[in-house]
Amino acid sequence: MAHMGDLKGRTILVTGGAKRIGREICRRLHAEGARVLIHYGGSAAAAEQTAAECGDAPLFQANLERTSDIFALFCDIEARIGRLDALVNNAARFTRVDPLEVTETDWDFIHSVNLKACFFCAQQAALLMRRQNPGGAGRIVNISSMGAFLAWPEHVHYCASKAGVIALTRGLAKAWAPAITVNSVAPGVIPFEEAGDPQIVQMARNTPAGQPGTGADIAEAVVYFLTCTQFVTGQTLQVDGGLGLR
Ligand SMILES: NC(=O)c1ccc[n+]([C@@H]2O[C@H](COP(=O)([O-])OP(=O)(O)OC[C@H]3O[C@@H](n4cnc5c(N)ncnc54)[C@H](OP(=O)(O)O)[C@@H]3O)[C@@H](O)[C@H]2O)c1
Repeated sequence: MAHMGDLKGRTILVTGGAKRIGREICRRLHAEGARVLIHYGGSAAAAEQTAAECGDAPLFQANLERTSDIFALFCDIEARIGRLDALVNNAARFTRVDPLEVTETDWDFIHSVNLKACFFCAQQAALLMRRQNPGGAGRIVNISSMGAFLAWPEHVHYCASKAGVIALTRGLAKAWAPAITVNSVAPGVIPFEEAGDPQIVQMARNTPAGQPGTGADIAEAVVYFLTCTQFVTGQTLQVDGGLGLR
């Protein structure tokens, strides 16, 4: 079956691409020769900096909580760029709340972005790929989390949203095969500003790798799913230094 081959000239949207893991994915895709489209929510200054690092990549602002913003985002991409070869669904939220205290607002805060926006971005990307690409071909990579597999008592609402990302990865892979592959990367501990937090340091030390991962580690897995044979679809790659090994 077909490979996407190299990424030169491929148009790839990364949601939440301004900072942290999203920024590293953008930088790696740019280094691979892709034309990166950078979505951001509130981090306009950081997004501009990342765009400058990625060959003055075009920027797209949208609040992914709102499906109307998502529909407008993909209309804007079609109008300004004309096509989309791949989507990396990276934007997400993360909160810590005791499950006995989770309110409906806490629940919706997480699920509106982590699961609902992930689905509707995938849907809009697939429709755009079908309209514009030969054979309707495309690639979608959803960033889930090891929280989908592990029991994290203070993040139950987050873990449920990320398990949902894996469920929709599998279902959409089947729905849109063989033209569009849909795969997922599940990161383990990938700290940035929080790299010195003793709890994070301890969690990373306790993994078989003995250290935390980096945005570059996640970007590597994203590149794999963007370039591999189309025969690979519906899969989740755990990039976690062995955190999930029990
Ligand atoms: N870091 C880790 O250890 C880790 C572990 C497991 C999984 N992950 C997953 O990996 C991905 C990236 O992680 P990260 O730590 O780099 O993420 P992050 O910094 O927490 O979030 C990434 C971006 O998501 C965007 N976003 C959130 N809500 C939004 C909204 N309503 N509208 C538009 N954009 C919104 C934000 O964009 P703006 O800043 O522009 O608003 C933010 O910069 C996420 O899916 C995360 O769940 C991360």
